[in-house]
Amino acid sequence: MGVLVSPMMSLLSKFTVLLLFVLWCASFTATEAYDPLDPTGNITIKWDIISWTADGYVAVVTIYNFQQYRHIQAPGWSLGWTWAKKEVIWSMLGGQATEQGDCSKFKGNIPHCCKKSPTVVDLLPGIPYNQQTANCCKGGVISSWAQDPANAASSFQLSVGSAGTSNKTVRLPKNFTLKAPGPGYTCARAKIVKPTRFMSTDKRRITQALMTWNVTCTYSQFLAQKTPSCCVSLSSFYNDTIVRCPKCACGCQRNNSDSGGCVDPKAPHLASVVSSLGNNNPMPLVQCTSHMCPIRVHWHVKLNYKQYWRVKVTITNFNYNMNYTQWNLVVQHPNFNNLTQIFSFNYQSLSPYSAINDTAMLWGVKFYNDLLMQAGRSGNVQSELLFRKDMSTFTFDKGWAFPRRIYFNGDNCVMPPPDAYPWLPNASSRQLTAPLILMIAFFSALAFLYGYA
Ligand SMILES: *[C@@H]1O[C@H](CO)[C@@H](O)[C@H](O)[C@H]1NC(C)=O
Ligand SMILES: *[C@@H]1O[C@H](CO)[C@@H](O)[C@H](O)[C@H]1NC(C)=O
Ligand SMILES: *[C@@H]1O[C@H](CO)[C@@H](O)[C@H](O)[C@H]1NC(C)=O
Ligand SMILES: *[C@@H]1O[C@H](CO)[C@@H](O)[C@H](O)[C@H]1NC(C)=O
Ligand SMILES: *[C@@H]1O[C@H](CO)[C@@H](O)[C@H](O)[C@H]1NC(C)=O
Ligand SMILES: *[C@@H]1O[C@H](CO)[C@@H](O)[C@H](O)[C@H]1NC(C)=O
Ligand SMILES: *[C@@H]1O[C@H](CO)[C@@H](O)[C@H](O)[C@H]1NC(C)=O
Ligand SMILES: *[C@@H]1O[C@H](CO)[C@@H](O)[C@H](O)[C@H]1NC(C)=O
Ligand SMILES: *[C@@H]1O[C@H](CO)[C@@H](O)[C@H](O)[C@H]1NC(C)=O
Repeated sequence: MGVLVSPMMSLLSKFTVLLLFVLWCASFTATEAYDPLDPTGNITIKWDIISWTADGYVAVVTIYNFQQYRHIQAPGWSLGWTWAKKEVIWSMLGGQATEQGDCSKFKGNIPHCCKKSPTVVDLLPGIPYNQQTANCCKGGVISSWAQDPANAASSFQLSVGSAGTSNKTVRLPKNFTLKAPGPGYTCARAKIVKPTRFMSTDKRRITQALMTWNVTCTYSQFLAQKTPSCCVSLSSFYNDTIVRCPKCACGCQRNNSDSGGCVDPKAPHLASVVSSLGNNNPMPLVQCTSHMCPIRVHWHVKLNYKQYWRVKVTITNFNYNMNYTQWNLVVQHPNFNNLTQIFSFNYQSLSPYSAINDTAMLWGVKFYNDLLMQAGRSGNVQSELLFRKDMSTFTFDKGWAFPRRIYFNGDNCVMPPPDAYPWLPNASSRQLTAPLILMIAFFSALAFLYGYA
C-alpha cells in the first residue's frame, strides 16, 4: 500500500488544484466585457477651441491615455472622424491628415485636407520646430498613465474652415475612430464640457478655451480580435519539472514555411528573412516554438528563506519583427501585498478595488531594460522579486506560489493548465486532512487499485 499512496496523492492534489482553478475562473468570466484590473481605463480626446477665425476656428486636440498599463506603441495612433458639415482643415501643427482629398473647388489657398472623414496621425520626432506644438511629434507613441504620466498625452493643432464661428454655430465632429495602432477602441459621441482652464507658466494668470468637447474611447480585447500574444511558463526550486507554455497557445506551427509560419533560429537564411521585413512591423515574425507566442513570461520560484521567498521573472521575445519599447507586465499574485523588494524593474501597485492589493505593474528601468530587444541573444529582460511571507496564507503547496494571471502590454497571457503546475514532492500529501478530501482520497485509491487489479 505504501507504494500506492504517492501516485494516489498526486492524483488528488491535481484534483484540488483543478477545483481551485475552476472556482477562480468563475469569479472573472462575468466581467469579461471590461478590464477588471483597470475598470476606469480610457482614452479621452479633448478639443479646445482657442480662437475663432473668419470662417471657422483653431483648436488644440489632445489625446490623454488614462489607462494604467495599456500604452500606444509604434507605429502609433491614428484618429479619424466625420465632419458634421462641409468643414475643411486649412492647416495643422504637430500632426497631419494622411490624405488631402479633393480640394479642387478651392483657388489660391489650398486646404491641408478636404476629406469628409479625415484621418490624422502624429508627426515623427525631429520635425522642424515651426511645425510642432507642445506634446507632439513622438510618432504617435503614448505612454500608459501608471508608467509615465508625463508622456501619457499627445496633441496637435488644427485650423478648421467652413465651420461655425461661434459656440452656437459650431457642429461637433461625429463618428470618432481611434486606431492604436490596430482596432480595439470604441469611441463614444463628442460631448460639450466645461471649457478647459489653462494656467500660464508662471502660474499668475488663467485663460480658458472658448469651447471644449470630449470624446471617450475604451478598449476591448474582444474587438481587437487578437490571438493571444503571450504565454507563461513555470518552474521552481523544489521540483525539476519546467512547465512549458501550452502547446499552440498563440497558434500552431504550420507545415509549409511559405505561408509565413515561423522562423527556425538555426536556419542559414535567417538574417535575410528578418531584414527583408522592415522594422517594428505589426505582424509578428516568431521563432518556431511549440507555443508560437511572440512573448513568453517565465516565473521561477527560486529560493525559500525563513521569512521571505524569492521569484525570478524572465520575459523572452520570440518576435524578430519587434523591439518592444516601454514594455510592461501586470501580474496578479496574493503575495503582492507584502512585496519587499524588486530588483531592476520598476514597480507600482494597482489596486482597482482598494481592499484587494494583489496586482502589480512591472516595467523596465529607463536606458537599462525598458527596451525588450527583438528575438535573439539579447531578446530578454529579467528581474527578481522578494516577498515577505504572511504565515497565515503562505504555502508552496497547490501552485500557490505561481501567478494567477499575467498581462504583457495589456494583453492577457495564456497560462499552463493548473494541473500541470510543479508540485512539492511529498509535502503535498501532508496538508490534505479535511475529511471530505480524505473521502475523495479513499475513493480514488479504490479506483486506482481497481484499475490495476
Ligand atoms: C476616463 O478616465 C478618467 C481617469 O481615470 C476618469 O476620471 C473618467 O471618469 C473616465 N471616463 C469614463 C467615461 O470612464
Ligand atoms: C456660448 O457662449 C456664451 C457666451 O458667449 C455662453 O453663455 C454659453 O454658455 C456658451 N455655450 C456653450 C455651449 O459653450
Ligand atoms: C456614423 O456611423 C454610423 C454607424 O457606424 C453610421 O450609421 C453613420 O452613417 C455614420 N455617420 C456619418 C456622418 O458618417
Ligand atoms: C474632459 O477631458 C479632460 C481631459 O481629459 C478632463 O480633465 C475633463 O474632466 C473631461 N470632462 C468631462 C466632463 O469628462
Ligand atoms: C506536417 O503535416 C503532416 C501531415 O499533416 C504531419 O504528419 C507532420 O507531423 C507535420 N509536420 C510538422 C513539422 O508539423
Ligand atoms: C531593434 O533594435 C536594434 C538596435 O537598435 C536594431 O538593429 C534592429 O533593427 C531593431 N529591430 C527592429 C525589428 O526594429
Ligand atoms: C499595496 O501594497 C504596496 C506594497 O506593499 C503598498 O506600497 C501599497 O500602499 C498598498 N496599497 C494599498 C491600497 O493597500
Ligand atoms: C502583509 O500585508 C498585509 C496588508 O498589506 C498586512 O496586513 C500584513 O500584516 C502583512 N504581512 C506581513 C507578514 O508583513
Ligand atoms: C514535479 O511536478 C510534476 C508536475 O508538474 C510532477 O509530475 C512530478 O512528479 C513532480 N516531481 C516531484 C519530484 O515531485
